Amino acid sequence: MRGNKINAGTKIPAHIAMIMDGNGRWAKNRLMPRSYGHKQGLERMVGLIERAFDLGVSFVTVYALSTENFTRPKEELEGLFNLIRTRFEEYMTRLCARGFRLRVLGDLSLFPADVQEILIKQQEKTQIYPEGKGINIALGYGARAEIVRAVNLAVAKGETVSEQSFSNLLYTQGQPDPDLLIRTGKEVRLSNFLLWQVAYAEMYFSDKMFPEFSDGDLEEAIAWYSERTRRFGKTDEQLEEKS
Ligand code: IPE
Ligand code: IPE
Ligand code: MG
Repeated sequence: MRGNKINAGTKIPAHIAMIMDGNGRWAKNRLMPRSYGHKQGLERMVGLIERAFDLGVSFVTVYALSTENFTRPKEELEGLFNLIRTRFEEYMTRLCARGFRLRVLGDLSLFPADVQEILIKQQEKTQIYPEGKGINIALGYGARAEIVRAVNLAVAKGETVSEQSFSNLLYTQGQPDPDLLIRTGKEVRLSNFLLWQVAYAEMYFSDKMFPEFSDGDLEEAIAWYSERTRRFGKTDEQLEEKS
């Protein structure tokens, strides 16, 4: 049920994936340029990651820019690159200082050289933190492209793959799969996000636009997640026997 609150018994997902959608519409509704929506969306992203960490979440993956988004108008993309240029270091330094490794998921070669440099530098700076807690930002990311890349890596090595070894060829190598996937912005689709990794994720769709998705909304999504029965193919009786 929706509308529940978090309490001491709430099961906290280890890994939350978020599709931050609705920045443009949110701005348009306020007669503001789309770039303003992206700026507010980025701030909200940071706030939500902080809240998730406070609640004990170990991994947060945010879909910030898809491979397909590179077909958007040049000015919009340039605005997004400028946000990375001006804000990324400050925000990621603040978030990762809590002991989280940053990983950028996606094809960095799609970005201008100076933006690539910022992304790689931030990622490297956080390698001092232990594995097991992380922030993934999907930028220039597409799940099909990720899967094809993994297939080609396996082919180049002349190997057949298992589910486990294939997972290790994806950008998310070594990390647990998302338990909860949240999409804002009213759309009920994956838009080429983590197709492999969300095989058993619980999916939560919100009508709110991303810049207005509050910490309370995140908590509501987690409380909803906590009520789900995750069977992974088993029956309820089998789950009861085990517990
Ligand atoms: C999501 O918001 C962020 C990016 C894809 C960069 P949108 O930009 O898709 O916002 P809407 O869906 O047009 O409102
Ligand atoms: C998905 O949002 C990609 C990101 C949130 C980064 P879009 O707004 O691009 O998705 P579609 O095109 O409406 O499916
Ligand atoms: Mg959108």
